[in-house]
Amino acid sequence: FLVDRGNYRHFMAKEIHEQPEVMSRTLGQYLDFTTGRTALPAQLPFDWKTLDRISISACGTAYYAGLVAKYWFERLARISVDIDVASEFRYREAPLPQNGLAIFVSQSGETADTLASLRYCKAQGQAIAAVVNVTTSTIAREADVVLPTMAGPEIGVASTKAFTCQLSTLACLAVAAGRARGVLTDADEQALVSALAEIPRLAAQALRLEPQIERLAKTIAKARDVLYLGRGTSYPLALEGALKLKEISYIHAEGYAAGELKHGPIALIDETMPVVVIAPHDRVFDKTVSNMQEVAARGGRIILITDAAGAEAATVDAVETIVLPAMPATVTPMIYAIPVQLLAYHTAVIMGTDVDQPRNLAKSVTVE
Ligand code: G6P
Repeated sequence: FLVDRGNYRHFMAKEIHEQPEVMSRTLGQYLDFTTGRTALPAQLPFDWKTLDRISISACGTAYYAGLVAKYWFERLARISVDIDVASEFRYREAPLPQNGLAIFVSQSGETADTLASLRYCKAQGQAIAAVVNVTTSTIAREADVVLPTMAGPEIGVASTKAFTCQLSTLACLAVAAGRARGVLTDADEQALVSALAEIPRLAAQALRLEPQIERLAKTIAKARDVLYLGRGTSYPLALEGALKLKEISYIHAEGYAAGELKHGPIALIDETMPVVVIAPHDRVFDKTVSNMQEVAARGGRIILITDAAGAEAATVDAVETIVLPAMPATVTPMIYAIPVQLLAYHTAVIMGTDVDQPRNLAKSVTVE
């Protein structure tokens, strides 16, 4: 069937704006809103209670979704997670445990390295779960269980809605794991399910910040290099923000764990280098404020993506703030992704690049 751009200038813009709807569809697949419980396929090829370890492999943006999921599985379900980019994982010869689950995250379900990692894990006796957008894909066919992301066809080469739908699926999976392992109580599960149910509304609110972000993109478009910082689940978002920017605007960007600032990137900070800080007012917020102070002291210009409490507590000069609504920590990755995508998108539009088909990149990398 035909996918068109509707009234949008680019598929990427359309796909960014579809996120409230497609995340709602994805969450509806894995949550039962009447009981307030998670609702995964009844027959899973593994038992959450006896799982020793989860291995996650993926490439590009899907890898960053997996990296967020590591934080969730560890905190909500107390399961150790090993995650790697599939191009490394497939050759590492990693020893895998008896009762292991391997999760492969892929929009297309055809990425060559991810598929090779899947085959390695299968040969090592792991249960195989595929979080894929294309359910007829090779990765879906070779998996023991398929967890579809309901993003619909994604045309823009730079992944947006597939990413937030991967996150939505993985969040439901981590909550289900936490409940099954007795780490979360019924009440905890219900609280998390209600929090996840708010995602479509919060995503729509995040989209309303677009005019401000479009304005801030003018600063980014003048830069030669941009640094993205985040901690906890905002760290993978910093990596994703930098990836998105370089992919479509061709401006060099790096994502870093905020705590690593002093181990390297601080040497680069001056008044020409914008620093995008992704920091909801969570339990690691204060640590990130001290990193922002280090940036400000060196003349760096900060764009802080936070909430009202964070904007108030960020006692730093030279900060432009993008203020999102307050929300529970587990849902921040799906919502904070949106201003990060919009910033890259509007920067690329200013730069005049081919946003949907950036040079040298392919939507699906089916060769090694
Ligand atoms: C390519 C695309 C990215 C995508 C990555 C992984 O690099 O340009 O947008 O994140 O492949 O693709 P997959 O289909 O496995 O998610």
